[in-house]
Amino acid sequence: MRIDILTVVPEILSGPFNASIVKRAQDKGLCEIFVHNIRDYSTDKHKRVDDYQYGGGAGMVMQCQPISDLIEKLCAERTYDEIIFLTPDGEVLEQAISNELSLKGNLILLCGHYKGVDERIREMYITREISIGSYVLSGGELAAAVLADSIIRLIPGVLNDEQSALSDSFQDDLLSAPVYTRPEEFKGKRVPEILLSGDFKKIEQYREEEAIRRTKERRPDLYKKWTNQ
Ligand code: 6GU
Repeated sequence: MRIDILTVVPEILSGPFNASIVKRAQDKGLCEIFVHNIRDYSTDKHKRVDDYQYGGGAGMVMQCQPISDLIEKLCAERTYDEIIFLTPDGEVLEQAISNELSLKGNLILLCGHYKGVDERIREMYITREISIGSYVLSGGELAAAVLADSIIRLIPGVLNDEQSALSDSFQDDLLSAPVYTRPEEFKGKRVPEILLSGDFKKIEQYREEEAIRRTKERRPDLYKKWTNQ
């Protein structure tokens, strides 16, 4: 998989992809991530990428020219399965969306900034708009990092058996059961006895019950989805 991320603040994206699972995925050749600075494509003599909005109002708007040139350059080099715009007014990211996108070959992620991007970019190039939740971020970069991470960990070979994505929370609409590691007792609090019993059938049953209990308590919306399936 290849992911091209288009941004006016590439610095924000240097961190998230250079550690842990996502870095290993790249080292293993399972995915490539390219971060492009939209400003590099501006033909303006001051390298401007934004301007005042027509009709007036606060906030700058990202201009068409640099984004259009960059997208067209990339699309001339290869075909993209989706050109995704990260925006608070997109569909809200869920596991099912990441699952679907993890099967694609090439993706472009466009990060919005300022007041947004000129609507014509959305009309002309964007195939999908995604938000990562009902709150406002200063730009789409952190959202792009979240989306990319959630997709990349699903690519076959990225996780080993122990990290298996199949046992993730949400993959079966349930939250995870609580987990413990050594020591057996910490400041007077003991690990649940069942986990020390060696009875794997009972352990599995305990974990399932805990997952259900937690989901019902913390995420009634997910619990309802789970009971209806
Ligand atoms: Cl994708 N962008 C911004 N700026 N804020 C957000 C978001 C995206 N998703 C949730 N909040």
